[in-house]
Amino acid sequence: MEGKDPVILSSDVSVKETFRKMVADTADAIIRSYDDNTAYSGKDVYELRHDLENLGFLPEKGTGFDETLRTVEKEIMPHLLRTWSTMYMPHLHAPALTETIASELIIGTFNDSMDSWDQGPAATEIEENMVHGLVKLFGFGPEADGTFTSGGTQSNMAGIIAARDWYCGTKFGHDVKKKGLPSFYSRMRLYTSEVSHFSMEKTCHVMGLGYDSVRKLPVDSRCKIDIEKFEAMVKEDIAAGLLPFCAVATIGTTDYGSIDDVSEMRRICDKYGMFLHADASYGSGLVMSPRYRDRMGDMSLCDSVTVDFHKMFLLPISCSVILFKKKNLQECFELHADYLNREEDEEEGYINLVDKSLQTTRRFDALKVFMAFRTRGQEGFAKIIDTAVENAGYFYERLLKDPVFIAPVKPEISSVVFAVKDGDEANKNIRKRLMSEGSVIGQTSKDGRVMLKFTLLNPNLTHEHIDRIIARIKEIREELV
Ligand SMILES: Cc1ncc(COP(=O)(O)O)c(C=O)c1O
Repeated sequence: MEGKDPVILSSDVSVKETFRKMVADTADAIIRSYDDNTAYSGKDVYELRHDLENLGFLPEKGTGFDETLRTVEKEIMPHLLRTWSTMYMPHLHAPALTETIASELIIGTFNDSMDSWDQGPAATEIEENMVHGLVKLFGFGPEADGTFTSGGTQSNMAGIIAARDWYCGTKFGHDVKKKGLPSFYSRMRLYTSEVSHFSMEKTCHVMGLGYDSVRKLPVDSRCKIDIEKFEAMVKEDIAAGLLPFCAVATIGTTDYGSIDDVSEMRRICDKYGMFLHADASYGSGLVMSPRYRDRMGDMSLCDSVTVDFHKMFLLPISCSVILFKKKNLQECFELHADYLNREEDEEEGYINLVDKSLQTTRRFDALKVFMAFRTRGQEGFAKIIDTAVENAGYFYERLLKDPVFIAPVKPEISSVVFAVKDGDEANKNIRKRLMSEGSVIGQTSKDGRVMLKFTLLNPNLTHEHIDRIIARIKEIREELV
């Protein structure tokens, strides 16, 4: 590396030039590693582990940046997952919009932190502006507020913690924040679909309520909560002395993209005095599409909503937000420290975002949303979302027409669960064979049977790509039987 070792950026011209070159060289290495033919090198798990272990840990003397970048390009990058590839479709795991990769460089370079205004003056103001815009976008009024988080799991956790504290406070005058769990905690119940995300169970464990507090609701043939059974279960639980405190509607389940009916769930929650949280980690992207927005339902009926930007919105990990219908629901996260977020700051006009966040030090992820929204506008996002939804519809129709496949659930968003009719082993082997060839698809189960899954988020994916992978799956099937 020529020039001075840029330990950190400084006013030194040579340091600035070296830094510029480091960034340019990194971009060149990324571009050299671009390959759309495969999403993964196909390297076997044990071989990869062995090779990467050989790279070692902490050398006595550093090799310098150029040599380190060469090693990363040669040994690691070829086996990273190429999320941009049209052959990658297993999870709700997005390729990143190019402008937001540039945002990551800005976020990392400035390294502002979102806990207090003096650690991120412009960052705080931009996050606040984005949150205020987002609450309006999802239909909430001026009383609403929210916070960026690390992902859907943490946003769901924030919503459900607020639900517990609200319920114990308003129904029983019990202050959980101060006194901990109430004596009746083991009777509290949360209701969510049997195909909802496991972050509900994880949250209830972390909150001290345990997995048993989560009541999994049966779903109908389209994998949506069966509302009659939901109400029946709540009534039964009340009769048994239990305390229904919260329901979680999933707006886009992980496997099927199915969407629960929030207006019916609101009706039940109002009748029995429950909090309604929407896990729209996946389906929130529909808000950008005038054509498909109505599929989400009315998010303003919910007390809190999880929105994930690192799924349908195609932002780099991590980026999520929890929105609350009433800003006072976030008070459960407020705690003051003299060194950080003094109460007097507020009187002087400063906003310390740690006052409404579970995390303390926190990334300026809102910049990615700001840059992506400004770069593309709502129309640009609508095209991305519409492509994903329409590709799923195309794939599903193709499966229905082909006697080799079953596809039990019509997609509402962009995930399609399907299987070849030849049984569990055939489906497992098809996925493994595709992976070894560099095409990565998902595997899940339905009614005890192994299923395959496509999660179609990539806007570069065309009908031709879909036709090609269907043809390849059929070839592999024939080779296997
Ligand atoms: C419906 C749903 N909710 C929550 C999550 C968790 O989100 P994250 O992985 O960002 O924590 C996921 C992840 O796929 C999901 O599909």
